[in-house]
Amino acid sequence: MQVWKDYQAQHQNRFLDELLALLRIPSVSADTRHNEDTKTCAAAVKQRLIEAGADKVEVCPTAGHPIVYGEKIIDAALPTVLVYGHYDVQPPDPLDLWHSGPFEPVIKEGNIYARGSADDKGQFYMHVKAFEIMMQTNTLPCNIKFMIEGEEEVGSANLGIFLKENKERLKADVVLISDTSMLSMENPSIDTGLRGLAYMEVEVTGPNRDLHSGVYGGAVANPATILCQMIASLHDANNHITIPGFYDQVAALDATERAALNQAPFDEAAYKKDLGVNELWGEKGYTTIERTGIRPTLEVNGIWGGYTGEGSKTVLPSKAAAKISMRLVPNQDWIQISELFKAHFEKIAPACVQVKVTAHHGGSPYVTPIDHVAFKAASQAIQATFGKAPIPVRGGGSIPIVALFEKELGLKTILMGFGLDSDNLHSPNEKYGLENYYKGIETIPYFHQYFAEMSKK
Ligand code: BES
Ligand code: MN
Ligand code: MN
Repeated sequence: MQVWKDYQAQHQNRFLDELLALLRIPSVSADTRHNEDTKTCAAAVKQRLIEAGADKVEVCPTAGHPIVYGEKIIDAALPTVLVYGHYDVQPPDPLDLWHSGPFEPVIKEGNIYARGSADDKGQFYMHVKAFEIMMQTNTLPCNIKFMIEGEEEVGSANLGIFLKENKERLKADVVLISDTSMLSMENPSIDTGLRGLAYMEVEVTGPNRDLHSGVYGGAVANPATILCQMIASLHDANNHITIPGFYDQVAALDATERAALNQAPFDEAAYKKDLGVNELWGEKGYTTIERTGIRPTLEVNGIWGGYTGEGSKTVLPSKAAAKISMRLVPNQDWIQISELFKAHFEKIAPACVQVKVTAHHGGSPYVTPIDHVAFKAASQAIQATFGKAPIPVRGGGSIPIVALFEKELGLKTILMGFGLDSDNLHSPNEKYGLENYYKGIETIPYFHQYFAEMSKK
């Protein structure tokens, strides 16, 4: 619509400046040293929602980082869209690999470089600006509720409680989220699923103290070696996961569904080149699209033990440990998978060490019903601004709260993300394209318009 375009063109620079200001706040949820920053960020989000025209805007405290809520109810008879996003970000380390400060956003070659630029400040803020556009041009066609949380990157445990306690306030017809990626700007896509997650930590203990590796090495098991052997045994020669029962609940896709998934454009040579790898890796019998979309996986996120400082130190460490996560697909249950992992890991430990296995957080997988009116509205909105219908793709990442939106609030979620897989999420030099940001702001009002229209029928 021309009025939207005109308003956006007029205010484009301010829209960018406001995002940059949010990106300067180091709202790292995992690190308690940033607790003041997450509060500051929540207050800033509150202020922006008020300025954009939302009512009942509130910073809601939780046992962890606060949740920001706001709404605009124009007519109770109209449909309501619940917009979810997160203002918290991943830790920025390793810091020395950033070309510029993670919280000092710079614009280079059409991209905004900063932690949280794509995940998720740049993406949720598009919704705040799209809302401002609709408010200022008197074109808001439905009710909107905003819920922007501060603990997505650490598992959203307190948001789960908030959902249970605020069912009335959060009543809506659909949840809309921009926190996923598109294939490319030329090949727009919509994620039709998210994987679940089970996150574990393991600790292997050998001798009761660190030992001189010359005096004792060779006579006492080295827990770092044992840990590596145990971890290596979690995949077999075909890269299947060896935990007994792990695949029992996995929903298999039929040949037609698999063929449809593999229709999505995928350039293996470009993929390898971008990542700097000579060969890809993965579960035998599945394509890369399937390996990252419809199959469960197990990854070591971090591993440590012994001396890792400068120079060398000869030591046989007393302990070694690792953080291990599993991505889950329908119909795997993250609590059951966590238990299977724990039992298996304890069972494969040799008698020369002791192991401790603890579960961190987890979440269930989710699949979007593509016959939902809101999915059609999102497809048409993308068609309107990209000139092409989006390709449905199963996303590999997780947003654990999405399954709870369905369970607690009975709401389906539409994942209309505008990022790119190459945006360096959770990695140094995270970026978000200016074009992605502006195109997202342009597309979102169409979603609301089409959703309101289609809901009438
Ligand atoms: N925005 C991501 C999830 C995502 C990214 C989905 C790209 C699809 C494509 C989200 O912020 C995230 O990183 N989630 C975590 C899970 C959380 C429990 C730590 C993840 O997927 O690792
Ligand atoms: Mn995110
Ligand atoms: Mn993330």
